[in-house]
Amino acid sequence: MSLRLGDIAPDFTAQTTSGEIRFHEYLGSGWGVLFSHPADYTPVCTTELGRTAALQEEFRKRNVKVLAVSVDPLDKHLGWVNDINETQGCHVDFPIIADEDRKVAGLYDMIHPNASETFTVRSLFIIGPDKKVKLMITYPASTGRNFYEVLRVIDSLQLTAGYSVATPADWKDGEDVIVVPAVSTEDAIRRFPKGLRVVKPYLRYTPQPDK
Ligand code: BEZ
Repeated sequence: MSLRLGDIAPDFTAQTTSGEIRFHEYLGSGWGVLFSHPADYTPVCTTELGRTAALQEEFRKRNVKVLAVSVDPLDKHLGWVNDINETQGCHVDFPIIADEDRKVAGLYDMIHPNASETFTVRSLFIIGPDKKVKLMITYPASTGRNFYEVLRVIDSLQLTAGYSVATPADWKDGEDVIVVPAVSTEDAIRRFPKGLRVVKPYLRYTPQPDK
């Protein structure tokens, strides 16, 4: 059965461009992003890994470790990394899993046979410090992902893990957030001293509590 939100992210041991990695051990007590790409030496994938490398400091600030995966062998990954660094003006310093036996692809259902029998699609998982799956997205090979959106989701997940709030459509770090319905307005006034804006009894905004 395929993975669902809230499931424990399957653990695995894999060969990567940074040596052998035990996934859960590698994540430690932090957050993780595991994302697949269809194949090495392909144009969209090159830009995706380049953008991820360029954003490494943003991931680090959020205590997130990033791992890429495709079914290509290790030597191919290592050669391709040189091209990514050269063409995208970056330094790829996160591990890329060589999933030749498709172990990781199988555990995370990254091969969608009606899209491609052989290649992983563009799957992405955000994993919390409790090792549970917090977000899953799947894009087709023809569409590169927006890694700023991945960071935005991580900001929302990290905020909402600590406060009884949710984030509205298109929210960005620093903007007002929504008080979850489970909190009464009376309680919300106590819990959110920066103020409460009640638009409807079920739609209540407060300034971002951790700013
Ligand atoms: C790409 O990364 O450019 C790509 C990979 C597989 C199919 C189509 C595009």
